[in-house]
Amino acid sequence: MPLHDAPRERPDPCVLVIFGASGDLTQRKLVPALYQLERENRLPPGMCVLGVSRTPMTDDQWRDKLREGVREHTKNFDEAAYRAFARRLHYLPGSGAEPDVYPALIRRIADLAAEHRTALHWDDAAEPAPGPSPQPNVLFYLSVAPSLYGPIAERIGEFGLVFEGKRWCAVNPQAVPWQRIIVEKPHGTDLPSAAELNRVMGRVFEEDAIYRIDHYLGKELIQNIFVMRFGNTIFEPLWNNHYVDHVQVTAAESVGVGRRAGNFYDAAGATRDMVQSHLLQVLSLVAMEPPSVYDQHAIRREKIKLVNTLRFTDADHAHLHSVFGRYGPSGDQNDDDGGRGYAQLDGVDPERRTETFAAFRLFLDNWRWAGVPFYVRSGKKMARKLTEIVVQFKQPPLQMFRDLDGRLPSESLPPNRVVINIAPDDGISIRFQAKVPGPRFAVDSVKLDMDYAKAFNAVPIEAYGPLMLDAMRGDQTLYKHRDEVEIGWKIFDPFLQSAKLRQSIETYAAGSWGPPAADQLLARDGRRWHNPVKGEKR
Ligand code: BG6
Repeated sequence: MPLHDAPRERPDPCVLVIFGASGDLTQRKLVPALYQLERENRLPPGMCVLGVSRTPMTDDQWRDKLREGVREHTKNFDEAAYRAFARRLHYLPGSGAEPDVYPALIRRIADLAAEHRTALHWDDAAEPAPGPSPQPNVLFYLSVAPSLYGPIAERIGEFGLVFEGKRWCAVNPQAVPWQRIIVEKPHGTDLPSAAELNRVMGRVFEEDAIYRIDHYLGKELIQNIFVMRFGNTIFEPLWNNHYVDHVQVTAAESVGVGRRAGNFYDAAGATRDMVQSHLLQVLSLVAMEPPSVYDQHAIRREKIKLVNTLRFTDADHAHLHSVFGRYGPSGDQNDDDGGRGYAQLDGVDPERRTETFAAFRLFLDNWRWAGVPFYVRSGKKMARKLTEIVVQFKQPPLQMFRDLDGRLPSESLPPNRVVINIAPDDGISIRFQAKVPGPRFAVDSVKLDMDYAKAFNAVPIEAYGPLMLDAMRGDQTLYKHRDEVEIGWKIFDPFLQSAKLRQSIETYAAGSWGPPAADQLLARDGRRWHNPVKGEKR
């Protein structure tokens, strides 16, 4: 077992090298998240950031550019605090995919480690040791175009930047400076490309140094699924095919694709962008078996076991279990698409029939879930922003009550369901039946609501920050293993390859819940999507 195997309590100081430093993600998410961590005093002392990007800039110019992102994307911007934080930020112009930048990169890492005393902070060893400057930990972050993931990893390898276990930290001989890499999604675009990327990365980094990020796993309510299921006794006994009728996972967005259409989305579509990535992770946590401990290895093992039980559908039959759609014009000139439908957006090839909505009926062929459908859907330009998981229970074996109109509850009332609301109002609700007060013995449906922000008097924090800290601690619990990624593609590739599915793509009204065929997908099974209206809150 490698020495760094067990995650440490505290994040290790490191030099965080962000490739794609002038990009959108760095500006909107990564650096605002780091600033937030700094404000909460959670960044390790000595940790510093080296941004690498082709745009020529000095350290100060980069800091000024980032200031705007931090101001816009954090709630507590403060100029003095930003200035103090910005001392950790440095910049190097160049392309991580080209060899020319590497000699300078290696020098900068060493210089910054010396300037910030990065390696010296390891285990609070504050005094400089005699002899050569100790090696710092280095965390690479690939926030670049996916086509550059492989080439950058190769350059990192060629220039000998990964040497974990071969050299020792001069300050603390017990500590081995590590090199890890965080890789943004998409992790491939199909099984062959994902397998190839995994192979390339695997030649340079060990699997336990590769952190495939999925920001959904950084969300509080998603992590809370572990606690809800395995920290309580009231849910888990019912969490199986004896009691659960079906499960729905929805990620609906009211925004359109806008200017991302041509440079990314048209080649990706909803299945790649949201379902194979984020929603598959959500499904894994909802359905996995309990691990014996909350530990990265145990959890990842269970998740891999779970995705391995997803039923495979070949391309000839994919259209029977899925529906694709793309949104029509909204007519609202002020929206992200200038009121245009997806097919009319700049950079979109209408003949490609890229889906902005996808719905799937999936099955898990295992003892717990045999026969329980998992309906998963995601779409842009839908009725409202809503990310939720609905676990719907079966009717009680015997119906002995009536509602106020004398009808059976199964005909008139919503069934028992647990709704895990991930966005916008983080919380959990449980719907069940209760006696209506009064002399008549009638029942109605009621709801128990847990609002996360109210319960804890705290606003859930930006997902990227805690995930980066996990990488600095060596904790891969909330990162994806290569097997999960590859199995995910194996399951979804046939849907993406299905000509019938693409040919039958429907245009749905902007601001709706998707194409009518998606309703039929469930209606055929005698079920309906849970489409809460705005303000109704679950
Ligand atoms: C990203 C997708 O990964 O997730 C976007 O590329 C999508 O298309 C976003 O809008 C949704 O994330 P969230 O956290 O707003 O649900």
